[in-house]
Amino acid sequence: MRIGVFCSGGDAPGMNACVRAVVRTAAEAGQEVIGILRGYQGLLEEDFFVASDGKPHMTARSVSNLSPLGGTILRTSRSSEFQTEAGLKKAAAILRRNKIDALVPIGGDGTFHGAVALARYWDGRIIGCPGTIDNDLRGTDYTIGFATAVHTAVEAVDKLRDTAESHERMFLVEVMGRHSGYIALYTALAAGAEVVCIPETPTHIVRIIEKIKSLRARGKKSIIAIVAEGDEAGGAAGLVERFRAHGAPFDIRTVILGHVQRGGSPVPADRILATRLGAFAVRSILDGHSGKMAGQTRGELVLVPFPDTFGHNPVPPELIELLETMAT
Ligand code: F6P
Repeated sequence: MRIGVFCSGGDAPGMNACVRAVVRTAAEAGQEVIGILRGYQGLLEEDFFVASDGKPHMTARSVSNLSPLGGTILRTSRSSEFQTEAGLKKAAAILRRNKIDALVPIGGDGTFHGAVALARYWDGRIIGCPGTIDNDLRGTDYTIGFATAVHTAVEAVDKLRDTAESHERMFLVEVMGRHSGYIALYTALAAGAEVVCIPETPTHIVRIIEKIKSLRARGKKSIIAIVAEGDEAGGAAGLVERFRAHGAPFDIRTVILGHVQRGGSPVPADRILATRLGAFAVRSILDGHSGKMAGQTRGELVLVPFPDTFGHNPVPPELIELLETMAT
C-alpha cells in the first residue's frame, strides 16, 4: 500500500514527531510512504518529498531525529484552490495517477473538512491526526501542539509576572485561539493569572474591574489577565482601553504572544501524543478504516468520524471555577 502523509493549516509543535511515526510504522509494516509538501496546495502541484536516494518517497532515515524539531519538515499551507470542485477533482486525479491508496492528513478543523470533501471524489482511505495548538477538535482530549503552546505561553507569563510585580502593574496577555479559550484557560491556571477572558464565557468589564479593585485592596501588587484572541469583547488591544476607561486601579501594559506559541521544540507530552496517533493512524488504515480522526480520550486511542470532530470543543466549566477560586 502507498500512504501519503501531509500537514495542513497552522503548524503545530509535534507535527514532525507525527510524520516520523507515520513513516516508521508504515515502513515496519512493509508499506510505502509519500510525503506531500505544503498540504493540499502541494498535492495539487504534485510537490512531493524527495529522499536522499533521489526518489519521491520517505524512508525510516528521512525522519531521523525529528521528534525534537518544531514546525514541520513537510511544510504547510492553506489552499483556496483545493476548496473548489475543480481543485478536489484535480487532487483526486493526482492521487490516482500516483497510485496513492491512503492519506494521513495532520491538521485541524479545516484540514478534516478538506478530507471529507476529497472523499466525494476519491475512494482511498483517509485517517487524520489532530495537529493544531488550539485544542479545538472534538473527540480527542488534546491535539498535537497544544501542550507546547501552553508551555511557551506560561514561560512568557511567568516572566511578565516578575516585571508586573516590580512595577505594580497589570498585564493583558493575548494568546492564540481564534474560536477557543483552551490555550488561555490552561495558561491562566498554570501561571496563576487573576483574570481570563475567553470566547466561551461573557467578558463583563465592570465585574472584572470590581474584582481587580478588591484584589488590590487585599494587597495584590500585580494582575495578570490572559485574553484569548477570539474573546467576544475583542483582543488585548481593544480591552485595554475599556479597562482604563472603567477605572482599572493599575497601570496597564499589553503583550500579544502571537505566533511564538506555534514554534519551538515540542514538549514530551506532544511528542508522545504525536507518536501514538501517527502510528495508530497507519495501523487503522491497514485495518481498513477510513473517514476518521485518530484521537486519544482518557488515555485510550480512539477513531472518531471526521464530522464528529467538528463544532465547538467546550472548555471544562470546572476549570473556570477553579481559576476563580485560585485568584484571591
Ligand atoms: O493554528 C491555529 C491558529 O493558531 C489560531 O489560533 C490563530 O488564529 C491562527 O492559527 C493564525 O494562523 P495564521 O496566522 O497562520 O493564519
